[in-house]
Amino acid sequence: MKEYRGFMLDSVRHFQSTDEIKKLIDAIALLGFNKFHWHLTDDQGWRFASDRFPRLNTVAAVRPYSDFGKTLIREPYGRLYSKDEMRDIVSYCSGKGIEVIPEIEMPGHTGALLSAFPSLSCGGKKVRIKTHQGVFRDVLCIAREETFETVTALIDEFLEIFPGEFFHIGGDETPPDHWKSCPDCQRKMRELGLEDYSAYQNIFMNRVIDYLAGKGRRAIVWNDSVKGGNLDKRAIIQYWKERDRASVDFINSGGRAILSPFSYCYLDYDYSITPLNRVYSLKPSLRGLTDEGKKNILGLEAPIWTEYIDNDEKLERLLFPRIIAVSKAALGENDGPYEEFLREIKEMRGRLGGYVFEDERRWTKTRLSYAAGWLRFVRDNYTAGYIREQLFGKDYLPGNK
Ligand code: ACM
Ligand code: ZN
Repeated sequence: MKEYRGFMLDSVRHFQSTDEIKKLIDAIALLGFNKFHWHLTDDQGWRFASDRFPRLNTVAAVRPYSDFGKTLIREPYGRLYSKDEMRDIVSYCSGKGIEVIPEIEMPGHTGALLSAFPSLSCGGKKVRIKTHQGVFRDVLCIAREETFETVTALIDEFLEIFPGEFFHIGGDETPPDHWKSCPDCQRKMRELGLEDYSAYQNIFMNRVIDYLAGKGRRAIVWNDSVKGGNLDKRAIIQYWKERDRASVDFINSGGRAILSPFSYCYLDYDYSITPLNRVYSLKPSLRGLTDEGKKNILGLEAPIWTEYIDNDEKLERLLFPRIIAVSKAALGENDGPYEEFLREIKEMRGRLGGYVFEDERRWTKTRLSYAAGWLRFVRDNYTAGYIREQLFGKDYLPGNK
């Protein structure tokens, strides 16, 4: 059994009530998870109530509408988790042996933060909070000292609420487009003698990792950050991008990792794409790991992203029963025959109580379900807003352009 058995919930793209979060905590505790990774900041919203930076509570917490394809909300959408609510979640989790790991995304996925503090962007330009799915070019200007000071002040405020050992600082999907034309970023790169943008990103990430280490905390970053080749080995990488040789090298040479290979344990994907039998086959290892490298795998984590999940029923349907398969994998108890596991699920369902489970006929992969699932995924997710953003780098505001 691995020491890290995690579940991640995205409360930004769509949020959940604290009652629903506690209900999910009840289930994951019973299933043997010991980490709750809480995704609280992103392009489309900011959910942490801040005393230090009140603009986050107004400007960054609410987007004017949501255009996630079929999950369309035509009115302002947002909420904050108050400090009392977050403390309550921390204490509820602690009572069940679960550590809460907060995440502040940086330097990408910062559209909401930048909408409140445009001075943290390259050139200080106005940035809109995002209203749809995507990877956006609006990222932090990491040449500015103000950026580091703001980020560390935020970390301090988070640490008052979240006392755990681990702290997630994002590091994924950061297009360098604005850094390429920013005089401050270009000057800084020249001073550092760097030409590679991933390495430049890591200069900033390493400073934040060091800051957290100074506070006795261990930073986690998504495995995109390994690419620069200079990531501080004190960081723990979260491996979501698969077939990534640089990550394997990082782990073999002493770096630690949590595994969340997206095609096995991103539980927001439909069952036709990521069927239960695939999740059940998850192993806490990677091709190419040495014996030494294998020891550097701390464990597994299943994230659920909520771009297309705006209600508790859908959230639970996607989680159950696949989260049971993740728990078996994290506990190292998924060696038995799949048919036996299916029987176990029935028994476990009774013990868990009132959760919405996916229809049993959809659990296991069938011949046509995979292709049909991807077609449905493209139809539902590759919305006009997403495609325009990717093609033109423009935010998509229907009726406003
Ligand atoms: C991620 O899925 N962008 C970590
Ligand atoms: Zn810049």
